[in-house]
Amino acid sequence: MTNHAKLKQWVDEVAAMCRPDDIHWCDGSQEEYDRLMQEMVASGMAVKLNEGKRPNCFAFNSDPSDVARVESRTYIASVKQEDAGPTNNWIDPVELKKTMTELYTGCMKGRTMYVIPFSMGPIGSDIAKIGVEITDSPYVVVNMDIMARVGAKVLDVLGDDGEFIPCLHSIGAPLEEGQQDVPWPCAPVEQKYIAHFPEENLIWSYGSGYGGNALLGKKCLALRIASAMAKREGWMAEHMLILRFINPEGKQYHIAAAFPSACGKTNLAMLQSTVPGWKVETIGDDIAWMKVGDDGRLYAINPEAGFFGVAPGTSEASNPMALASLKENAIFTNVVVTKDKDVWWEDMGVPCEGGTDWKGNAWTPDSGEKGAHPNSRFTAPAAQCPVICKDWEDPAGVPIDIFVFGGKRTTTVPLVHESFNFNHGVFMGATASSEPTAAALDLGNVKLRFDPFAMTPFMGYHGGDYMQHWFDMGKKLGDKAPRIFYVNWFRKTDDGEWLWPGFGENSRVLKWMCDRVEGKVDANETPIGLMPKKEDFSLEGLDLPDETWQTLMKVDTEAYKATLADAEEYLAKFGDKLPADIKEELANLKKRLGA
Ligand code: OXD
Ligand code: MN
Repeated sequence: MTNHAKLKQWVDEVAAMCRPDDIHWCDGSQEEYDRLMQEMVASGMAVKLNEGKRPNCFAFNSDPSDVARVESRTYIASVKQEDAGPTNNWIDPVELKKTMTELYTGCMKGRTMYVIPFSMGPIGSDIAKIGVEITDSPYVVVNMDIMARVGAKVLDVLGDDGEFIPCLHSIGAPLEEGQQDVPWPCAPVEQKYIAHFPEENLIWSYGSGYGGNALLGKKCLALRIASAMAKREGWMAEHMLILRFINPEGKQYHIAAAFPSACGKTNLAMLQSTVPGWKVETIGDDIAWMKVGDDGRLYAINPEAGFFGVAPGTSEASNPMALASLKENAIFTNVVVTKDKDVWWEDMGVPCEGGTDWKGNAWTPDSGEKGAHPNSRFTAPAAQCPVICKDWEDPAGVPIDIFVFGGKRTTTVPLVHESFNFNHGVFMGATASSEPTAAALDLGNVKLRFDPFAMTPFMGYHGGDYMQHWFDMGKKLGDKAPRIFYVNWFRKTDDGEWLWPGFGENSRVLKWMCDRVEGKVDANETPIGLMPKKEDFSLEGLDLPDETWQTLMKVDTEAYKATLADAEEYLAKFGDKLPADIKEELANLKKRLGA
């Protein structure tokens, strides 16, 4: 398949260590995909869904212990501990490699080792990075086929000596002779390691088959390793959706938005605008790679080729475009398989008579338990999204006008506010906070999590240096830097009712941002930032009582002071590496709040 000596040598070394029964080089073809799916159906790992209802779709159930990212087992093994920083787990790389080499030794016995050449970003483009994932999971192969650009074309671009990022993955479940396999083999939690060696651009993952731990192009390469590369090379790798918002005259605005996992990035990326004449098109729903262009503006691409979205809550009401993307050629993990072999999940907005739940048990809606795991997922080709931009694969990327940060906060944080300037916006990103979601397994009992730039689980280096990188990018961009806003769609009343309708109505907030960029509207100056004047905000057709508007826009100074005190305590953990600009913004905000 290749004459790339370094790649062949690496594959030989891994095979000698992991001792698979077979080695298969993936060509990314439809035949290969179909054959692997057939094999997984035959082995009981996959269920073929109803061809009439979901053509070429398959469902999988994971082991109940392997349903999400495991942050407590995720490591940034930089040479020096201080380079990993306080938000990452660290083990000395030499020691970690020793531990993991022992685990990898013989770990693929009884299994096939797949070699997956893949490109994050359009194949051959300047901004794309080539990786090669070795895995013993056919589930990983078919998911990578959707999420990245895979196969022979990538090897052509790599040539005999091109650079690639080695990504080694094993589910950590060797199969002894005569031993019966289980549908979803994986290792126990204490043996799972999701390891990154940022100085070597190397990824080693062991013990989990879950997407974020196992599809190594996504979180591991495109965020953790890429963020470290981006810092070294002066660009940005961010946990951001990218969308195009088009006004009635056809003018395009590009928005990149960072929210923590399972806070609605996919929904916002595919939003159906309720502002007359305005339209959203999708470029990406999870990751943005951004570089400064020749004109001094910041250009973004989506390095992925598919969506790995949270299924529960995805409905005709919340995200019809995501549902349309899942009509065919999709993979579902940990959802309900209905009696007629379709899929279902909670809040899908359609009735379900019952079927098999994510644990493989017979299930009906009145079983008293959730049928789909809260972090159940769909994997679907981005090209199937009806509102994907025609030019979403243009390697030149799109110029970003607006950055948005946010999280899930049922109290305190208003619907929208704008930063006074870029540095203040970086401070808003650095102090972003959210109530935990189901996307990570092991956050314990925390009520509020500070999640700078929604990157806490994905920063490949010290968080203080990461914040400094944002300030440095701001300096480089100068007056061409995107404007920065902070949103919160998730405010509730004391009785637990949502204050803001959300979903498509969020377009009203995006429109206000665009009007601000155009200088069309003024804003109210508040201690936390610039906020909309009611008369400038598109509320037509929305039955929103004035009292609700006032609550959504209220700056509760006392509550903010409390959050600020927590933020200050949180930021202290970045120690000497906390940028002076963050301290300055903190002092300014305190002064404005009278704290
Ligand atoms: C994801 C996540 O899967 O952030 O995108 O967990
Ligand atoms: Mn994500």
